[in-house]
Amino acid sequence: MTAPLLKAGVMGWPIEHSLSPKLHFYWLQKYNIQGSYLPIAVAPEQLGVVLKTLYLQGYSGVNLTVPHKEAALQIVDHVDHNALRIGAVNTVVVREDGTLEGRNTDAYGFTQNLLSAGYKSNGKPAVILGAGGAARAAIVALLDMGVASIRILNRTLDKAEVLVEEFGSELSVHALNDKAALKDVSLLVNATSLGLKGQPPLVIDLQHLPKDALVTDMVYAPLMTDLLKQAEARGNKIVDGLGMLLHQARPAFEAFFGVDPDVTPELRRYVLGDA
Ligand code: ATR
Repeated sequence: MTAPLLKAGVMGWPIEHSLSPKLHFYWLQKYNIQGSYLPIAVAPEQLGVVLKTLYLQGYSGVNLTVPHKEAALQIVDHVDHNALRIGAVNTVVVREDGTLEGRNTDAYGFTQNLLSAGYKSNGKPAVILGAGGAARAAIVALLDMGVASIRILNRTLDKAEVLVEEFGSELSVHALNDKAALKDVSLLVNATSLGLKGQPPLVIDLQHLPKDALVTDMVYAPLMTDLLKQAEARGNKIVDGLGMLLHQARPAFEAFFGVDPDVTPELRRYVLGDA
């Protein structure tokens, strides 16, 4: 008897630009797994109905991307700790009894990406630019890594204040153009949408950023953002955002297909279309 086909996918609206099908397809082939991972276009008002049919359709689970990650919190039957803290679900696992479990692997992906670049905070603060969903994943990751203090720099200060109330006094709020807030830090993270293809550029003065601080950008289109170029040119170590995407997919792949896959340079080249 042949093994049953394991089914998973990614839901978004639109979904054509998602790199996830390519990434999971690579792993399915690499590990010789009888499985499929499809892009699924789901309009926001259909999300609840579509998620509820996953069990009957024989799905192991799905990933969620824009605009479904927050809405799914209200739809799934169980929410894991990190999804609750981040306020978003990026992985839905169909349990054996047919109920749906919402997880969030973004903080894990963020952490693994930093660790792959050798990041250690050494008791120094980190700076996060932004206070939206991406920033929340970075905050959860950095708090769990034991980073002592996190400076949130955001255009809308009220949104950053809400994060302090929620996550605690390790966080502090600063204006987006507060150059001095970059002093003494071990890490600078762009978690705004600035610098993303089609969005305004991120303009930032790095003069006070220590030369040994690591700089990362959660924007990965383009891969080498202006921030990363600017940081690299002045001698800072950088790590691009693609690694986060690759690493956040690992726990999802394991939940859907039963194998914890590797993130390798070859996978990076494949996903970027260079292999
Ligand atoms: P995501 O889920 O990707 O984080 P989001 O929740 O919409 O998206 O958050 C976008 C972030 O980028 C916010 O921090 C936003 O700043 P505000 O809180 O002030 O809106 C930031 N951002 C987006 N466009 C911006 C711009 N033109 N200038 C400054 N910050 C911007």
